[in-house]
Amino acid sequence: MRVGILTGGGDCPGLNAVIRATTKSLIHQYCAEVIGIEDGFLGLIERRIRPLDVQSVSETIALGGTILGTHNRANPFQYFAANGADISDEVVAYVRSIGLDAMVVIGGDGTMSIAHRITQKGIFIVGCPKTIDNDLMHTDRTFGFDTAVSTVTEALDRLQTTAKSHGRVMILETMGRYAGWIALEAGVAGGADVILIPERPYQLEEVIRVCQKRAAQQKFTLIAMAEGATMRGGAMTFSPIQADSHDPLRLGGVAHVLREQLQPHLASEVRATVLGHVQRGGTPTAFDRILATQFGHAAAEMLAEGQFNRLVTLNSNRIDSVPLAEVAERVKTVPTDHPLLKAAWAMGVSTGEPV
Ligand code: F6P
Repeated sequence: MRVGILTGGGDCPGLNAVIRATTKSLIHQYCAEVIGIEDGFLGLIERRIRPLDVQSVSETIALGGTILGTHNRANPFQYFAANGADISDEVVAYVRSIGLDAMVVIGGDGTMSIAHRITQKGIFIVGCPKTIDNDLMHTDRTFGFDTAVSTVTEALDRLQTTAKSHGRVMILETMGRYAGWIALEAGVAGGADVILIPERPYQLEEVIRVCQKRAAQQKFTLIAMAEGATMRGGAMTFSPIQADSHDPLRLGGVAHVLREQLQPHLASEVRATVLGHVQRGGTPTAFDRILATQFGHAAAEMLAEGQFNRLVTLNSNRIDSVPLAEVAERVKTVPTDHPLLKAAWAMGVSTGEPV
């Protein structure tokens, strides 16, 4: 068996742990030959590949980022450097010419959508779900998410002490795109007083009421806010940055918008912190290393068993899989009655809605 591995889309902690687990499992268990494809699908377009052996993936389990590199915009069906032309047939021909029997594609919904289209041209693929956003359908968890939640929780812990010292309202903006998973989990773990997520649009009057009440009692308020959060009836806040991906729109800056909205109504100072890519970098947590290792190993086993064109998933604490077609271009948002929301409400946490 000769297998190619690529990482596509934005990076996240745990990618190297998957590359390592897949490579070692394939070599140790199946004597396979493993080929690393550089910079996601761009490596297939520009023909940049290199052999991976046990040595080349050793000592990478704790390493953030991806040793293979990644690319946000390299889509063979719409190649940016060829005026959006479809060069997928050339890519498929290249995959065949280098003798790949199958590929492991590690990525999020955009990457899986491309992977799915490539499978329709006869290439065998197993997908592995990555993203700090945890917004991929049919998997309870994506690796990278736990690390991001830990990073945001630590930031909230730090903001809490300074908020308390100065009697301020501190807003922390998290990533997460159109889903509120990071803000919800980190908000609960970091003891936020207000958690604002896209799935539950907030009312400004209610956030003001909570901050005023806390100013009179505890003096400070900690707000965890997802980048995709909106005011009821309002729109999402997009950053002026145009990303180098198939979806050029980037969220960002909503914490500053809320700060401007709140300040005129509050005696306390309101400050906003946007954590940004700090959430995506660095060492994966033990949980993410383990999940990534299980995903990578499962991908190798699926290849050996001929279970192609499926995405490895975590389903009720068991490693499972679903057809790639079922996850492509779909987003898993927080259910509006999620048990963690109910627990947060019971703790007195506000989601910016009247109780
Ligand atoms: O999907 C992961 C993610 O980090 C989102 O949370 C965020 O909105 C986006 O990627 C940022 O992307 P970029 O690094 O391209 O600006």
